[in-house]
Amino acid sequence: MSENYEEWLDFAKALAMKAGEMIVTARENSTFVRDYKMNHELVTSTDIAVDQYICSRIVESYPSHCILSEESSPHMDLGSIGDDVPVWVIDPIDGTVNFAHGHHHVAVSIGLYIGDQRILGVVNAPFLGECFWALKGSGAFCNGKPLAVSSAQELRNALVATGFPYQKTALTPIIERVSRILHHCQDVRRNGSAALDLCWVAAGRLDAYFESVKPWDMAAGTLIAEEAGAKVGYYLSSTSTWPDVVNGEGLLVSTPQLYADFLALVDVDL
Ligand code: IPD
Ligand code: CA
Ligand code: CA
Repeated sequence: MSENYEEWLDFAKALAMKAGEMIVTARENSTFVRDYKMNHELVTSTDIAVDQYICSRIVESYPSHCILSEESSPHMDLGSIGDDVPVWVIDPIDGTVNFAHGHHHVAVSIGLYIGDQRILGVVNAPFLGECFWALKGSGAFCNGKPLAVSSAQELRNALVATGFPYQKTALTPIIERVSRILHHCQDVRRNGSAALDLCWVAAGRLDAYFESVKPWDMAAGTLIAEEAGAKVGYYLSSTSTWPDVVNGEGLLVSTPQLYADFLALVDVDL
């Protein structure tokens, strides 16, 4: 393992903690304004402020690294980046709708990959007082305690999370998949933060998570889930132009024993 990895992980944790404080303060003082991207996707002034804070600190500390961040560089051409260049993938607030409505299921997500390898992930949930992290090959942790996926063996006992896109035209096949899951599993959760759904699979609080999401939603949480023993795969064949390592299209992450069963439920031609 490169000795830089530990340093980068500490750096990412410090950024995520400070970003978490910014989010809590903005919520407590109601010092944020709402706006809409593409007329339907909620974004607040706190999403922008936290994005700027994280990105400026990365540029200052690691000027040769690249950044893909939801609010300031979502169209970054990752295909043209060399295989040895570290790429930070940032979601300043994952769970913006929750944040704006005063719900606590909100996270800062910071991932880093190099070439085809996920190197580190930090997901800090400031209202919940939980910070999740993982370093490739070193396990996954929540507030310093090691994480492991659930040992569920049967679908009928499995709790499954998913999410819904802002774009309502894409809902029909998703509802069908949810219906199939509901018919065979214990229940479904829609918690409103993909990054935390992945961490909750890592923590064994959920048995599976499936959704089509963007790189910044999944870069950190996918490594955390993998390092806790989850199986990571896809229920859709990719049409995405993102590199595989940050492709969130048709993402299915679950406890390994039940992966094939979940896949059989959601991998349907709809
Ligand atoms: C959203 C959350 C949500 C998921 C959406 C994401 P945002 O991210 O992760 O759980 O269902 O697909 O877009 O907009 O709050 O950063
Ligand atoms: Ca997100
Ligand atoms: Ca976001």
